[in-house]
Amino acid sequence: MLRILVLHGPNLNLLGTREQSVYGPTSLDAIDSSLTKLAEELALEVDIRQSNNEGELVTWIQEARSGYDGVIINPAAYTHTSVAIRDALAAVALPTVEVHLSNIHQREAFRHQSYVAGVALGQISGLGPTGYLLALRGLHDYLTSRRQKKSHSPMASSRQKKRAR
Ligand code: DQA
Repeated sequence: MLRILVLHGPNLNLLGTREQSVYGPTSLDAIDSSLTKLAEELALEVDIRQSNNEGELVTWIQEARSGYDGVIINPAAYTHTSVAIRDALAAVALPTVEVHLSNIHQREAFRHQSYVAGVALGQISGLGPTGYLLALRGLHDYLTSRRQKKSHSPMASSRQKKRAR
């Protein structure tokens, strides 16, 4: 079963009460429940965590190297500041989708730069909580087709033949 690590960065624990005109009324618990429900439908496992601490996020990304197939991350304010989170994602080299509830490119200039985007498979920005669900579907499709390609590769078929002998 594919396993996806979902990381929420600083202040996202306040969703639902925080700057509702920007981030909307949905709580983080509600986002997490909808992700868990979709994961069940897609037969995926999701491990969902939130931290206000950059180092903790870096450690979790490093630990994902074993046992996880992909990462969904909303690094929140660390998007625009954290070389450490970018480096951790580059080091583990897991397919990663970056999510933002708001459209960071329409907001203040300091939010236009993402340190994470350069090491991500893709970025979803501005679609609210739906962005997380699209990220999960996108990662599922990417990982599933990658698995199929691997199992149809000449190397894989020679491995299968060896096993059959
Ligand atoms: C955010 C956008 C960031 O600029 C901001 O610091 C956040 C949330 C978003 O989801 O829209 O905390 O990542």
